[in-house]
Amino acid sequence: MTDELSRNERIKEASDYLRGTLAEGLREEITGAIIEDDAQLVKFHGMYLQDDRDLRPERARKKMEKAFAFMIRVRIPGGVLTSQQWLALDQVARDYGSGTMRLTTRQTVQLHGVIKSNLKATLKAIDAVLLNSIAACGDINRNVMCNVLPEQSRAHAAAIALARSVSDHLLPRTPAYREIWLDGERIAGGEGEVVEPIYGKTYLPRKFKVVVAVPPSNDVDVFAHDLGYIAIVGDAGEIIGWNVTVGGGMGMTHGELDTYPRVADIMGFCKTEDAVKIAEAVVTVQRDWGDRKSRKHARLKYTIEDRGLDAFRAEVEQRAGVKLGAAKPFTFSSTGDRYGWSEGTDGRSHLTLFVQNGRVHDSALGAQQTALRTIAQRHDGGFRITPNQNLVIANVPTSEQTEIERIAREAGLLAPWSGLRRNSMACVALPTCGLALAESERYLPDLLTALDERLAAFGLSADDIVIRMTGCPNGCARPYLAEIGLVGKGPGRYNLYLGAAFDGSRMNKLYAEDLDHAGIVAALDPLFAAYVKERQKGERFGDYAIRAGIIAASGNGADFHANVRLPPARVPAR
Ligand code: HEM
Ligand code: SF4
Repeated sequence: MTDELSRNERIKEASDYLRGTLAEGLREEITGAIIEDDAQLVKFHGMYLQDDRDLRPERARKKMEKAFAFMIRVRIPGGVLTSQQWLALDQVARDYGSGTMRLTTRQTVQLHGVIKSNLKATLKAIDAVLLNSIAACGDINRNVMCNVLPEQSRAHAAAIALARSVSDHLLPRTPAYREIWLDGERIAGGEGEVVEPIYGKTYLPRKFKVVVAVPPSNDVDVFAHDLGYIAIVGDAGEIIGWNVTVGGGMGMTHGELDTYPRVADIMGFCKTEDAVKIAEAVVTVQRDWGDRKSRKHARLKYTIEDRGLDAFRAEVEQRAGVKLGAAKPFTFSSTGDRYGWSEGTDGRSHLTLFVQNGRVHDSALGAQQTALRTIAQRHDGGFRITPNQNLVIANVPTSEQTEIERIAREAGLLAPWSGLRRNSMACVALPTCGLALAESERYLPDLLTALDERLAAFGLSADDIVIRMTGCPNGCARPYLAEIGLVGKGPGRYNLYLGAAFDGSRMNKLYAEDLDHAGIVAALDPLFAAYVKERQKGERFGDYAIRAGIIAASGNGADFHANVRLPPARVPAR
């Protein structure tokens, strides 16, 4: 480790509150890219500079610049969209993007393939329906997630209210976004004006993620995030307060044992009126205590490991002026979505659809993008993006149910998927993500087909088993909390992790390295066979793997890397 501040710290400091030379760079027509420093800053505006990696070899041969384009991530607290907003995003994707929309694991929408000259038009169209991409990426608080909760309307109302308050409170105050993308006038600040009272000039050491969960559903994967609120629900369905979690995070680097995924600790209990104060205090302690020298050690999870939870809690309580209570009991049952119709306590109906890996497009599975557009045109109850990359058609009146279900069914959005596929997620990876070491979204469906065949042979098709894949160890689809986790190592090769808890409370552990397709199927097949024979009543695959001694249970933090046994027989010859 060095004593030097990381390069990103200097870029942020010199950026004049996230402006950099973005406005000038946009006018530069000679390249589809922007300069490297601005590429760091543009993340705070919700965008990533990417290039189509499928086209790299051909363009290199022709001595052409890479096929640069931007990914835009919209800010959608709790994943709640009006039908009009859905239609606008769908239109923007077709007018300016790759044509498709990507529902993400953090309840937002990503649009890919927007070229530099179309960025402003795209963001203006998004702004016209009261959405934006402010702080959707970057070293700052990102999209705040919230349980979708179709069946507990009273608790959902309170949970989404908290998610929105935290989101609003932690927004950056700089007018840079409006100035650069929406042609706003530059607002001159007075001498000594505090532009960012919460963040300061250098924002946070790293990304920061907040979620709100309502038991028994842990669909938001509360333990995977920097800051979480777990609703404590009273007998009448009302929320009496929140357990506060801190220090979860997924990313790590292959082969670097001092980087690891971590499940959050429960720090204590707070009342609703104190929840936003607590959020601000957690953010400012991390702002001041987080590591700004090594970005690989800069997330809140490492601050908590290094300083200890007690010291962190004491500082948060002091800054917030709030004493946290003892955490209250709660029970999570799963991290998955409840598909099909559900009725809320207010009598309104909601339909949860399965969108494979969150990719909204017309494909061999069905004309899904067209179908969702048709539904949005006739339905004004709104949409909710789930934390599992799926979609809820919310508040459907009885008179509309038959027709909406018919449209969804015809498009394959209600197909009778296996228990494994229903609980699957894959990150985007190739061709857009510059960090991908292996395929993910484009490969997982085929792997599932092969695994489904084996599961069917054992009579396990209907059993819920959580499987998640990512193209690199950054962990965007939260693979370390999956009963079967697959993490890209190199082209066509994956590390296999087993033994996570079905309710999202325990991480998995490395079981085998560098497996190709045949290796993954061959590794899992005997485990499925043993599971079906030996499992106890109601025992989940992840719990079974530990009880049967297939894998050691992962404790927290660095223990993720401990007790890994890789018998030579399990590692394929290279
Ligand atoms: C730690 C380092 C990480 C880096 C550098 C990183 C970077 C990226 C990049 C470049 C993309 C864009 C891929 C594309 O759309 O082409 C992406 C997607 C995404 N990331 Fe990450 N990521 C990291 C970790 C995480 C984690 C831990 C989570 C969630 C807990 C997460 C959530 C997402 C989501 C929701 C997407 C959208 C696609 C999807 O649904 O998979 N990221 N990330
Ligand atoms: S996990 Fe890695 S490959 Fe997948 S989207 Fe995230 S950064 Fe890209």
